[in-house]
Amino acid sequence: MMEKVAIKTEKTYHRIVIGDSRKMEDIEDESVHLVVTSPPYPMIEMWDSLFKKIDEKIEKLWERMELERNKKKKQRYIMEIYELMHENLAKVWKECYRVLVDGGIACINIGDATRSINGMFKLFPNHAKVIEHCEKIGFVTLPYILWKKPTNKPKYKGKGAFLGSGFLPPNAYVTLDCEFILIFRKGETRKFKPKDPLRYASSYTKEERDRWFTQIWEITGARQTVEERRVAAFPEKIPYRLIRMFSVIGDTVLDPFLGTGTTVKVAITLKRNSIGYEIDESLLPIIKKKVGISQKLLTDSYSVEIIKQT
Ligand SMILES: C[S@@+](CC[C@H](N)C(=O)[O-])C[C@H]1O[C@@H](n2cnc3c(N)ncnc32)[C@H](O)[C@@H]1O
Repeated sequence: MMEKVAIKTEKTYHRIVIGDSRKMEDIEDESVHLVVTSPPYPMIEMWDSLFKKIDEKIEKLWERMELERNKKKKQRYIMEIYELMHENLAKVWKECYRVLVDGGIACINIGDATRSINGMFKLFPNHAKVIEHCEKIGFVTLPYILWKKPTNKPKYKGKGAFLGSGFLPPNAYVTLDCEFILIFRKGETRKFKPKDPLRYASSYTKEERDRWFTQIWEITGARQTVEERRVAAFPEKIPYRLIRMFSVIGDTVLDPFLGTGTTVKVAITLKRNSIGYEIDESLLPIIKKKVGISQKLLTDSYSVEIIKQT
């Protein structure tokens, strides 16, 4: 059994930037220890308008794709749009690589997408695209986690896995009921001084280790608010486990796609510093509520700074 070391923990600092994480200019190189995030998923309908808004090339191609009558050409437009969406995400992964310390870890929660556009069905393997881009940037890919979500049930009628075929083979397809938590490392493993007190104070139990360091996580989301559903917020258990697994007390955790602020909230409770970037300013009141600013829960143990990128 590992002995827990009693230590005095310092105040933690949290910065929320309302801005675009494709350029995180106010984060210094090699100053972040862990990235925990979930981006907008390419080719999932709820994120179409965001991608069109942040990249006008996507918007223009989308218009052309909708007007195109030739199926093959249409398919080509769709693939071009898909590539561009990932290129936009890759700008963020590149920034994450720059700001991570040597041995720092990036955990990226992403789901694949299936989509029928004008009757053409296609699988978009987002997880594979993210791995491809991150490896090009220089990240080392570590074994990933499959987050099994029990909420996605097979569909029997209308659109969905069974497309009205009921119980008859062979034309149905498998339901996408897992998302990926991809894990990357920058460079070699992190180095610590022998018996580093903060590292020892951050240890997990044997039971936690056995449950967390396995490939399949069955996690049901807690009941979500309307705003959490709007941005597909992840349950707190996801950043909780990842922060405990891959950082130590006093480290800095970054979420470049902050959404409702879940990662910052959990970082506060786990005595890590944090930085969150969110492009949609309308989420600020929800973020403030989640991290305890509007409830005036701020204590001497942490402070939150909000910056609006110009
Ligand atoms: C899947 S949601 C994240 C949800 C978050 N994990 C939570 O628990 O609330 C993705 C978020 O990224 C934001 N976003 C998309 N592109 C961005 C960019 N370039 N810079 C900053 N935020 C961005 C979206 O507005 C959205 O809120």
